[in-house]
Amino acid sequence: MNMIPLPLVPAPAADALDIPAYTASGNERFLFEKAWERRLPLLLKGPTGSGKTRFITHMAGKLGLPLFTVACHDDLSAADLTGRHLLKGGETVWVDGPLTRAVREGGLCYLDEIVEARKDVAVVLHPLTDDRRLLPLERTGELLAAPASFMIAVSYNPGYQNLLKNLKPSTRQRFVSISFDFLPREQEIAVVAQESGLDEAAVAPLVDLARRLRTLKGQDIEEGVSTRLIVYAASLIAAGLPRQEAVLAAIIEPLTDEPEVRTGLVEVARAVLG
Ligand SMILES: Nc1ncnc2c1ncn2[C@@H]1O[C@H](COP(=O)(O)OP(=O)(O)OP(=O)(O)O)[C@@H](O)[C@H]1O
Ligand SMILES: [Mg+2]
Repeated sequence: MNMIPLPLVPAPAADALDIPAYTASGNERFLFEKAWERRLPLLLKGPTGSGKTRFITHMAGKLGLPLFTVACHDDLSAADLTGRHLLKGGETVWVDGPLTRAVREGGLCYLDEIVEARKDVAVVLHPLTDDRRLLPLERTGELLAAPASFMIAVSYNPGYQNLLKNLKPSTRQRFVSISFDFLPREQEIAVVAQESGLDEAAVAPLVDLARRLRTLKGQDIEEGVSTRLIVYAASLIAAGLPRQEAVLAAIIEPLTDEPEVRTGLVEVARAVLG
């Protein structure tokens, strides 16, 4: 492959406040950097609250790339990404969408829950996510070539996928893919302690409870307890809420609306936490 060298990106200071902490579970940081260097698009899959968004914001900060995040929903169309003509003071002006801005500025575009978006989104993504790296703007007649530093990353949660909402193979096969899962016990304890300010000894039983509840996924509960929820519970405890109340509000209630399941989960919590 014949490549123009990447522009030099100033390395942000190690203690830069705007780079959120990210604890790696494998070589995903290295893989991200190499994918960016080689101009390959990236797909992150994994359960809710497993660190996908955190990873992206961390990497964007580390590489000094402007980040454009789009939360996809079932009404999101190609024009929401590329841009549209808007009326301003009696005149129509073209306003770039987040994808177009990321291309023009050579940034990182992150499309969260990509499977939710409307089908016409694939039409703009395809030429941009293969070796052409082109973004055609039909409405303005422009054909933008993505600069070297531009990168696109998408994510989805395979847990929610159904037959109607799945990525087409021709879309999937345009992305280098990484699977995310919850961190191993000790690392998850360290992350929750760091995020919440609660000490590790107090966090450990919460993580043990979450790990126990995760084994019930698919039986009584749709999704396992996310790291996000453990951080919520730990934060409430650090703020002075009694542990039992924090666990109920931040871990058990968000998991189910079924009174019987809730009672069962409370019992599991009692057994694990004592
Ligand atoms: N590896 C990690 N390093 C640091 N913090 C983490 C990590 N994994 C999870 N967290 C914590 O969990 C929270 C939730 O993670 P995040 O928002 O990245 O999940 P997500 O995978 O994007 O979930 P969703 O699919 O619901 O968008 C973060 O705000 C952070 O506090
Ligand atoms: Mg996310």
